[in-house]
Amino acid sequence: MKGVILAGGNGTRLHPITLGISKQLLPVYDKPMIYYPLSVLMLAGITEIEIITTPQEQEAFRRLLGDGSWLGISLTYAEQEKPRGLADAFLVSADHIGDDSVALVLGDNIFHGYEFGPMLQRLSQNVQGCVLFGYPVRDPERYGIGVLDRNGELVAIEEKPERPRSNLAITGLYLYDNKVVEFARRLQPSERGELEITDLNRIYVERGEATLVPLGRGFVWLDAGTHDALMEAGNYVQILEHRQGVRIACLEEIAWRMGYIDRETCYRLGSRLANSAYGRYIMEVAEAG
Ligand code: DAU
Repeated sequence: MKGVILAGGNGTRLHPITLGISKQLLPVYDKPMIYYPLSVLMLAGITEIEIITTPQEQEAFRRLLGDGSWLGISLTYAEQEKPRGLADAFLVSADHIGDDSVALVLGDNIFHGYEFGPMLQRLSQNVQGCVLFGYPVRDPERYGIGVLDRNGELVAIEEKPERPRSNLAITGLYLYDNKVVEFARRLQPSERGELEITDLNRIYVERGEATLVPLGRGFVWLDAGTHDALMEAGNYVQILEHRQGVRIACLEEIAWRMGYIDRETCYRLGSRLANSAYGRYIMEVAEAG
């Protein structure tokens, strides 16, 4: 399975912060925002990942993450000149996807939960149709939402409905079989001029090929797209890291635990950042084995 991170857009809801820097490079406590969605793909066992950015910001992402070889993975970059919608990702990254299945994650989405990695590894094996993740929220009108029937089957999806029929938001992580590229090519722009991911997912729902996996109460899903959400996400990560002494989305640690790099490499990556608590943490976990 290939991975795609969508990290373009204008970040207008975060102005004036994002006038000078891409939203997905902003800090969420101790690391750049894009580390969080990247960690999700790495935990899923995906090692060939394309990052879609605006043309003007691509250089900064390359400076931060390079070609991924330091993490034992492959990172490539693609440009989206205009925010033409989330489903545009499959047109931009069609060559990268090739004839494989694909996981798309939004660059401002943060996931954290027990055994999430193994669950994703299981679900991403041999995807037929699409797999979406539902999360109960207080304000479903802000999201795409999923409607389940009595048997828990996904029967409808609506984008930001005024009167939501459920409180299950569809999160910004999507797994698809290879048909997604063809389906995305058939989409027409919506009234707001975007290729909507919800229209794409509806094609799968209508074919009876969409699965919604509910993420339980103990799970945390945040998007960091507004001033308050960004602050709250940072606070959440800080509290958890202080309390438990483990770091969320530490790419070097994940690369080592997933077997993409060895322990010595992990330690060395930490030692390069030894002036920061983040770097010292990497050294400590690698040393402890
Ligand atoms: O976060 C989950 C939600 O994401 C879903 O529940 C919705 O169904 C889905 O439409 C989307 O809603 P948003 O209103 O949050 O989407 P937004 O336009 O803010 O885009 C999400 C991220 O993707 C944002 O960080 C910028 C990036 N983006 C967006 C568009 C439209 C791009 O890189 N390119 C784009 O063309």
